[in-house]
Amino acid sequence: MSLLKIEDVAYVRFRAPDLAEMRAFLEDFGMVVTEATATRLAARGAGPSPVVHVTELGDAGFVGVAFRAESVADLERLAAAEGAAVEALDLPGGGSVVTLSDPDGHRVDVVAGQAPADPLPVAAAQAWNRPGAHDRLRATKRIAAGPANVVRLGHVVLNVSDFRASERWYKDRLGFITSDEIRLSPAFALGAFLRCDRGETLTDHHTLFLVQSPKGPGFNHAAYEVADLDDLMRGHQRLKDAGRHAEWGVGRHILGSQVFDYWRDPWGHTLEHWTDGDLFTAADGSNIATVQDLLGVQWGPQAPPTMG
Ligand SMILES: [Fe+2]
Repeated sequence: MSLLKIEDVAYVRFRAPDLAEMRAFLEDFGMVVTEATATRLAARGAGPSPVVHVTELGDAGFVGVAFRAESVADLERLAAAEGAAVEALDLPGGGSVVTLSDPDGHRVDVVAGQAPADPLPVAAAQAWNRPGAHDRLRATKRIAAGPANVVRLGHVVLNVSDFRASERWYKDRLGFITSDEIRLSPAFALGAFLRCDRGETLTDHHTLFLVQSPKGPGFNHAAYEVADLDDLMRGHQRLKDAGRHAEWGVGRHILGSQVFDYWRDPWGHTLEHWTDGDLFTAADGSNIATVQDLLGVQWGPQAPPTMG
């Protein structure tokens, strides 16, 4: 039994030496910057989460990831078990936070009690016409050029030095359950896609993916859900026109099924746009998968070596 069962990932935190340059990238990527001081940026998506990306002024790098607990009472239980403190969360939306360090030294914030933000308007999904299923009748379809509408942060991928040790750490504390475990051989697991244990409530196929990387521990990528396929493609064009660094996409993953599009921020951190991912409940079980399943696509370009 885990100490608590988190609801979702909350935000990722980076350092960058040029906040104006990071802000320009985040706006091309489709986030809304809600706080910009001389030393920090905070950005949100269109959904109710008050913050999904934080940048502190400093040498470029990944700082940590945050997950959202159900209640401050959960944080108090976690803090007592870990010998940590519940502190005020100094970010838009406020709330409380317990700051931990995972087995590789990644900073892990567990937050609760944030005030939700008023959702921002996102153009309603427009109907699709398919043979035999014409949903748009006597009406045109027009997609305005512009950045994608980032709605929410959906998952984070961390490279770890020892998958089993990290898996144990995250499952014991935060209540993750395995969706797909990636086996190199019957005896060796490379990593796993982990989803939140929300009982009968549907949750993303993965909120955290831990992968034992030959590169050693570190940040792999963070993935933001956009409004729909048209929105993802609109955002792709915007990032391309802005001269941003395309990493991999557009394609459709096998594990998780989502349509994906990966980009790099100005300091090389990979952020993903995705849409149309799988949703499961706790009862939907766990699967064993291969590296081919992990890196293969249902359609789209093959994975570049930089994603391996
Ligand atoms: Fe991803």
